[in-house]
Amino acid sequence: MGANFDIEAVRREFPVTRQMLYFDTAHQSPLSVSVKAALERFYSEGLETAGPKPRWLERVEKVRARVAAFIGAEPSEIAFTKNTSEGLNIAANALPLTAGDNVLLVEGDHPNNAYAFLNLASKGVEVRFVPMGASMGAQSFVPHIDERTRALSLSHVTFHSGQIFDIAGIGQMCAERNIALIVDAMQSIGVVPLDVASMPTSMVAFGCHKGLLVPQGLGVLCVSRALADLKPAYLAVASLAHPPSDLVARADNMELKPGARRFEIGNYNLPDIHALDAALDLIERVGRASINQHVLDLGDRLLAHLDEIGIDIVGPRSRDQRCHIIVLKLTPASWVPYLASEKVRVSPERDGVRVSFGMFNTAEEIDRFAGILKRGKAAIGMGSASLPN
Ligand SMILES: Cc1ncc(COP(=O)(O)O)c(C=O)c1O
Repeated sequence: MGANFDIEAVRREFPVTRQMLYFDTAHQSPLSVSVKAALERFYSEGLETAGPKPRWLERVEKVRARVAAFIGAEPSEIAFTKNTSEGLNIAANALPLTAGDNVLLVEGDHPNNAYAFLNLASKGVEVRFVPMGASMGAQSFVPHIDERTRALSLSHVTFHSGQIFDIAGIGQMCAERNIALIVDAMQSIGVVPLDVASMPTSMVAFGCHKGLLVPQGLGVLCVSRALADLKPAYLAVASLAHPPSDLVARADNMELKPGARRFEIGNYNLPDIHALDAALDLIERVGRASINQHVLDLGDRLLAHLDEIGIDIVGPRSRDQRCHIIVLKLTPASWVPYLASEKVRVSPERDGVRVSFGMFNTAEEIDRFAGILKRGKAAIGMGSASLPN
């Protein structure tokens, strides 16, 4: 089994692959050479020219258009934020929710999604947690909906088990009932196909430090043009259609920018936006479909090894329901330190050890990992406290 792209060239982009088995893209991406170079170019411009801000802002618009195309949106639907949580909080506070309205969330989904809406309790908005099932489609939510249900907010891919929610089907169900659908795409973006043109969503929030390969501190909120009239909870001069040229604030001219830019507050994370341009080059050079197929192939190979070794997984098994995240039913307290001692980077999760792949992982790494798992199982079983020598 081989990747259908030049995997050696990709691995040269990620020097960390020479140091360890990095199976932790769901936590954060390792830095790539070209993303680091883009950051350095930005800093050099700052050093040498004291910062060509108009040119930097032109590039922000170029990257906005690229991000929009990446997810099937219009540039006017894209706002840059700090991270997923900021996007979700902007969404929760912009929706016209009033006392007695309710919002559906999935129990045990990412807490950052839940807190954005739980915080609306002060407005009298009720949060209803829908139990997390092994497979959840639109019908899982219907029994929890009543005439005061205004929004449903959930992850595209769950962080703790790699379950993919059927956003297209859930979006359709929400659209028929005039319920806003808010999607946290932090785990899926850059790895699992996400196309808002074919998945009816109201708002999609994500950060860029996992599948989009840049350091923490940049997020995106995509606001459907159907919601172009929503009002932001916060206001800054950047949100205004006609900022006063003398920069003296006046209450009589506060028309908002059209589209999602009304939700942007203050200056941008310019270095990260420059980095994102380089990251999108890299992702598009490899090909989004190729990345997705590659991580699924790696999952097939890992599952075959796990079956042979006798290690179960927590989330979905079948290729059409899986993504780049596979959670092994092993006790994190003993396995994560063991794996770290073998130079394997993974994450502890609530139900096991989370393994997640990126474009730079290889079949040979999976085979090596299987050997490490076999030795670990012989020495520590599925989860006692002592490490093998
Ligand atoms: C589903 C999901 N949402 C959100 C986050 C993080 O939120 P933020 O980008 O605000 O740090 C994570 C993990 O880091 C995640 O897995």
